Amino acid sequence: MKKRILALALSAAMALSLAACSGGGDASGSGSGSGSGSNSGETKKVGLSMPTQSLERWNRDGSYLDEQFKSAGYETIITYSDNDTNRQVSDIQNMIAEGVDLLVVAAIDGEALNTVMNEAGEAGIPIIAYDRLIMNDNVSYYVSFDNYTVGTLQGQYIVDTLDLNNAEGPFNIELTAGDPADNNAGYFFQGAMDVLNPFIESGKLKVVSGQTDFDAVATDKWDTSTALDRAQTVLASYYADGTQVDAWLCSNDSTALGVAQAIESDYTGSNQPIITGQDGDEANLKNIVDGKQSMTVYKAVANEAVVTLDLGKAILNGETVDGSLIENAGWDFDCSYDTESYSTSEGHNCPSFLLVPDVVTKDNMVEKLVDTGYYTQDADGYLHPAA
Ligand code: GAL
Repeated sequence: MKKRILALALSAAMALSLAACSGGGDASGSGSGSGSGSNSGETKKVGLSMPTQSLERWNRDGSYLDEQFKSAGYETIITYSDNDTNRQVSDIQNMIAEGVDLLVVAAIDGEALNTVMNEAGEAGIPIIAYDRLIMNDNVSYYVSFDNYTVGTLQGQYIVDTLDLNNAEGPFNIELTAGDPADNNAGYFFQGAMDVLNPFIESGKLKVVSGQTDFDAVATDKWDTSTALDRAQTVLASYYADGTQVDAWLCSNDSTALGVAQAIESDYTGSNQPIITGQDGDEANLKNIVDGKQSMTVYKAVANEAVVTLDLGKAILNGETVDGSLIENAGWDFDCSYDTESYSTSEGHNCPSFLLVPDVVTKDNMVEKLVDTGYYTQDADGYLHPAA
C-alpha cells in the first residue's frame, strides 16, 4: 500500500505547488487564450493520446495519467485510438486544434505519426513519447521502462528455470514476439534473444519450428487470437508427434494468453511449458496462479504516470529538464536518465527517463502486487486491480 499512498501524496503535493506557482490553476485566467501555455493565470491543457482500450494495461495508463494531471490542476483531453493509426493521427490533430500545451503520446505505430508530430512541433507544443518511442525529432522526451531489460528478464527466467547452465538438455523452445509497429517490440525480443542465443547456438535449446526471426514470430497489434492461431499452427506442424515443448517465450501478456490457450487445447504433451509474459494483466495473473503461465514482467505504470507528470510539469513551467529531475522529485522507485539509448532519427538522441521492470511469479505476486497496493487478492487467491 505504501507506494500507492506515496504516489497519491506526491500528486497532492504537486497540486499544491502548481497552485502556488500558477496563480491557483483555475480556468478563469484572463490571458489571451492562445493555448501556448505561457499565461501563468490560465489552466494548462494536456492531451493524452493512448493506443487502445483492448489491451488491459493501456486502460490503467490512461486513467493514472488522467487522474494525476487532473489532480495537479491541469485540464486534460484523453483519447484511445482503438489501435487504428489514422484515428490516432486525427485524435492528436483535434488536441492540437483544442490548443493543448503538452502532448503525451503512446503511439500505435512509432513510424506513422510523422506528419502530426510535425504539426505539433510547428505549433510549439512539447511532446512526451509515453512508453513507446515515436520516430520524429519533435519528440522532446521519452518516458518508459527499460525495454531491453524486460526481454533479458524473460530470457533469464527461462535459463534459470530450465537450469540451462547445469542441465544436460537439450530443451525445446518456441518464440512469440510483439507488434512490429511498436518500437518496443524489437527491444523486448532482442533482450530475450541475447540471453537465449548462446544456448541455442550450443544446441542446449532447440527452436523446433526453426522460427527465430523477429518477423516470423511477431504478432500484429499484440493480438491474442493472432498469437493463438500461430501457436496452434506451430503445435500442429512440429509437436503433433509427441515432441515436448519445454518453454515458450512470449513478449507480453496478451500474446501469452493466446499461447497458453493453444497449449491447453492443442498440445499433446503432458508437461506444462514455461510461458513468459509482461504487464501483469488480470487474466494472466489468474493463469499464473493456475499454473498456466510462469511469470510476467510487471511494470508499475502508476509510477510511469508519476514520472510523466513531474516531467510534464517541469516542461510546462519552462524549466530546463535533465537528470536532476530525478533527484529533485525524490521518487520512492528507481528511474534513470538516459541520453544515449534511444534516438528518434539517425544521430538525434532522445533524452529518456527509464523505470525498472520487475519479475512477478506465483511465489512473489502477493509481495510485489498485493502488499504494494496495486492489486487485491480474493478468497480463491486470484488478484484484481485495486480500485
Ligand atoms: C508495449 C508495452 C508493453 C505491452 C505491449 C502491448 O509497447 O511497453 O508493456 O503493453 O506494448 O500493449
